[in-house]
Amino acid sequence: MEGTAEPASTRRPLGRPPLPWLKPGVVAGAAFPAASLALRAASGTLGANPIAETLNQLGLAALVLLVASLACTPARLLFGWTWPLRIRRELGLLAVAYASIHVLVYVVLDQAANLAAIAEDVAERPFITAGAAAFVLLLPLAYTSTNASVRRLGFARWQRLHRLAYAAAALAALHFLWRVKVDVTQPLLYAAILAALLAVRIIVRRSRRQGNTRAGEG
Ligand code: HEM
Repeated sequence: MEGTAEPASTRRPLGRPPLPWLKPGVVAGAAFPAASLALRAASGTLGANPIAETLNQLGLAALVLLVASLACTPARLLFGWTWPLRIRRELGLLAVAYASIHVLVYVVLDQAANLAAIAEDVAERPFITAGAAAFVLLLPLAYTSTNASVRRLGFARWQRLHRLAYAAAALAALHFLWRVKVDVTQPLLYAAILAALLAVRIIVRRSRRQGNTRAGEG
């Protein structure tokens, strides 16, 4: 859930078009899964197990948005694009919004707000434990997503904290992997995308550091 506060080198250079439709476009696109679920619920076409279907669609939307938010920095590192950085915070917050509704549906509709049953589920079903851990990690990231938080924590500390988004996404992919019992292609695909995004960050940063060291020596 990294915010928009960035070192000056990554900000939009003056004179470039401001892409005013970018943020509204992201919000409108991200509202699509919720709207589709609402329509299907209203027309009674959520299938034999509407609660499970609702949980799965909300969970998937949360994971997709989280992975999209984590793709913004690698997109800049690989292609030099700066526009994804301007929607990174929105993507992260939308992911947390979907994850929160996902958890709310689980608590209220799936578990009838029975706190003892929920605690037992979290303790005894590894896939629920992984989902709960992912959700808990997302909360401080959403809370500190504002520019004021970046200033309060200092950029370096804030950036270290927001690397937890990778751990949250990895736990969410594990949650998905442990939920599906037969075809694990989709969760493994998300895990592979996450690993690739992390690898891009590490490799590009390491090669830049080595380049700087060589330039310093030369
Ligand atoms: C306390 C936290 C969480 C709980 C209790 C929880 C619970 C569940 C449950 C019960 C299901 C399966 C529904 C069914 O098939 O019967 C599910 C599926 C899923 N959840 Fe969660 N979840 C949590 C957090 C998260 C978070 C944080 C994410 C993502 C960021 C997430 C992503 C998913 C995904 C991707 C699926 C499977 C979607 C599919 O099969 O298409 N969950 N979750």
